[in-house]
Amino acid sequence: MTETNDSALPLAGLYAEIRPDLDRVESRLSEMIRSDNPLVDEINAYLFTAGGKRLRPALLTLCARMTGNGAGPDAAFWSAVIEIIHAASLVHDDIVDRTDTRRGRETVHSRWGANITVLLGDHLFIRAIHEALRTRRYEIIDVLSEATERMIEGELLECAVSGDPLLTEDRYLEILDKKTAALFGAACRIGGMLGRADPDLVRRLEEFGRNLGLAFQITDDLLDFTGRPDTLGKPVLTDLREGRITLPVICALRKIGGPARTDFIARIAAREDDPSAVEAIRDAVFASGAITEAAAAAAACAAKAKSFLPDEAPTARTLAALADFVCGRNA
Ligand code: IPE
Ligand code: IPE
Ligand code: MG
Ligand code: MG
Repeated sequence: MTETNDSALPLAGLYAEIRPDLDRVESRLSEMIRSDNPLVDEINAYLFTAGGKRLRPALLTLCARMTGNGAGPDAAFWSAVIEIIHAASLVHDDIVDRTDTRRGRETVHSRWGANITVLLGDHLFIRAIHEALRTRRYEIIDVLSEATERMIEGELLECAVSGDPLLTEDRYLEILDKKTAALFGAACRIGGMLGRADPDLVRRLEEFGRNLGLAFQITDDLLDFTGRPDTLGKPVLTDLREGRITLPVICALRKIGGPARTDFIARIAAREDDPSAVEAIRDAVFASGAITEAAAAAAACAAKAKSFLPDEAPTARTLAALADFVCGRNA
């Protein structure tokens, strides 16, 4: 169903052992997003054929397979539900962040306008919840609802602190933990539950997913400075323009002192009126060594994630490789 961008990524290799599972996820997704409403159908087709890494379904499936009990049809079902929640969050996020490109295509709001996109995002969220409710598996629905609530709280928190150059690293990590890591943690937890892992392993898988999610989002924030728009499929320097203070900026501010620091902070405040401010901030971030420091922070989160994996278990090596992948990726 997807036009995958696997050729540009080592993901194809990492996904090899679960390829049939992921194909089943695509089939479930196609079924779930089908709608009698032609506009919903058209936008969903646009959205879900644009590729996407399918990281959350892959993590859920690999965690479900860890116990050797097999992923089964339930894993494909819940993976599709999570991917729909993820897609809903992206279409809303692109309105909030005023981004015009994603997955190498125009964003939904650039094409159909913000009004329709808000409603389409709502439709996707409720679609996922409706599908989930039909199963009556309330212990899974509980995990998923809590993670989605946290994700939205994280996005709200990010909006609330937007433009504040004195955002602390702790607050920044709290935002990441909510807006990104919670859903990664839920995917891994649900995988463990479906694989009938014991409670301790389920908890460890969730911790693995959360720390991988932190590594993933720190890297995403780094790529906003270091990435190439054609490879990423989305524009760069968007966070800076929108006043999102991310780890490279926080690290740079720790390293820069005196008048240069005053100038750096003034440029953050001036970014909307002064077109050169964003480039100047980017240059100062690179010159300060903050990029290396932020990359090290992402690697540390990936290492922490891996520490929660059992030494000997089917799929543990692939999950560990995925934790490394999220730090080394360029898309
Ligand atoms: C993008 O997530 C949103 C973030 C949490 C940074 P992904 O990078 O997983 O998006 P797709 O699905 O692969 O496009
Ligand atoms: C968004 O984070 C995370 C979500 C929960 C949607 P970003 O705003 O950094 O994601 P991108 O860069 O737009 O993909
Ligand atoms: Mg965004
Ligand atoms: Mg981003």
